[in-house]
Amino acid sequence: MPPGDHELLVVAAWWHDLGYAPGLAATGFHPLDGARYLSHEGYPERLCALVAHHSAATFEAEERGLADELTAWPHEQSAVADALWMADMTAGPRGESIDYPTRLAEIRGRYEPGSVVVRAMSRARPVIEAAIDRTDRRLRVA
Ligand SMILES: [Fe+2]
Repeated sequence: MPPGDHELLVVAAWWHDLGYAPGLAATGFHPLDGARYLSHEGYPERLCALVAHHSAATFEAEERGLADELTAWPHEQSAVADALWMADMTAGPRGESIDYPTRLAEIRGRYEPGSVVVRAMSRARPVIEAAIDRTDRRLRVA
């Protein structure tokens, strides 16, 4: 990725789940709540948009009836976005390194089988795997 995007990736990785903070929950959909909070605090739109769309958030937004609200944020498709998704989907709840199938199983284990999150993560699997594959290829080339 462009060297100028390195800091953006690190900041997005730190902030991507900010919307889980109870005081920030407005819609109950953490990517959107986090992005809205960061925007309100004056953070750059690109960072907010990466947070809004992290890890194929579009699928869960559709499940929750919040797709229109999410599309207010540009859906960046780039090495930065892919790397953010990969980092999120290959780290466990305590930051440990795990592979994507293990991460997916961990997520499914925390929610009811037919829940919004489980349905969304199942539908999102191909696009998350593609982002991980693209990032793997970029890392091998680098
Ligand atoms: Fe998240």
